[in-house]
Amino acid sequence: MSSELLKIEDVRMYFEFRVGLFKTIPVKAVDGVNLEISRGETLALVGESGCGKTTLGRLSLRLLKPTHGRIVFDGLDITDKEEKELKWFRRRAQAVFQDPYSSINPFMTVKEILEEPLILHQVGDTEERLEMIIKALTDVKLTPVEEFVGKYPHMLSGGQRQRVGIARALILRPEYIVADEPVSMIDASSRAEILYLLKELQEKYKISFLYITHDIATARHFSDKVAVMYLGKIVELAEARELVREPLHPYTKALIEAVPEPDPSNRLKERKVIPGEPPSPVNPPAGCRFHPRCPYRFEPCDKNEPELKEVKADHHVSCYLY
Ligand SMILES: Nc1ncnc2c1ncn2[C@@H]1O[C@H](COP(=O)(O)OP(=O)(O)OP(=O)(O)O)[C@@H](O)[C@H]1O
Ligand SMILES: [Mg+2]
Repeated sequence: MSSELLKIEDVRMYFEFRVGLFKTIPVKAVDGVNLEISRGETLALVGESGCGKTTLGRLSLRLLKPTHGRIVFDGLDITDKEEKELKWFRRRAQAVFQDPYSSINPFMTVKEILEEPLILHQVGDTEERLEMIIKALTDVKLTPVEEFVGKYPHMLSGGQRQRVGIARALILRPEYIVADEPVSMIDASSRAEILYLLKELQEKYKISFLYITHDIATARHFSDKVAVMYLGKIVELAEARELVREPLHPYTKALIEAVPEPDPSNRLKERKVIPGEPPSPVNPPAGCRFHPRCPYRFEPCDKNEPELKEVKADHHVSCYLY
């Protein structure tokens, strides 16, 4: 058994963006990404809004078919498989979304929500399924269980609803979960709790996680590795602590500087923003995509695109400074 569970090879996703009646132009949402996720590892995917994080997450779950490249799960190429050939994969890979309502039906009770994937995948009989539901609710700490099974989503708090979303993702014992900004819609006071819960469950069940976030601070805390994405590309990849201790790419440095530090009066200082607009994936700049905003740019930067290279042990960056 090899250690990597998921392999993404030169994956691209070009959407057609309609301009006018007959003309479309490609939106290069993901533009040549290589990534590997090992068994039991959490990889954080960090970057500004619109850089392609959700698209990459959906590609890795084969909810989208890539325009180019290969997606390999547990040694099996799933790039071009049709839905009916992916049933085994659907059971082994799951998602937790930003908005729990996108994965839970508001007209179903918690019990029905959790039983649905079990029925779909023909797991257990009624009694065994009930046991699994109780176990899943206990795992996400929605106890006493009897108090929650009969409730409808609107009767729960945002944090509890996301716990149901997590229980649903977990109930089939998947090996891979994409958590796409799982706490950004939740009350700030319960965010850390939910992230700790995910980490606890990840360790308990040895799940591989793709944790998608804007927030490099939680990425460092809850992940083994961090991949920094800019305009459809991975620009830096390293072990989480290493990346924050010694960021190499000017964009990563800017992201880290933009993390607000609490000041003595216990208020958050104003967030520094990275100067310049994030350019559009319809028409990415020539050369390094970050060069128009980069304070360190020099001759080669607007000509050829730098490759993602290993410049230190397990630390990859795509930048001409290295
Ligand atoms: N179905 C689609 N059709 C056309 N364009 C799309 C589609 N989905 C995404 N895009 C475009 O692809 C780019 C990347 O979008 P994506 O949602 O992956 O970014 P993101 O990093 O997840 O952003 P956010 O942090 O705001 O969630 C954006 O320019 C977006 O408008
Ligand atoms: Mg997104």
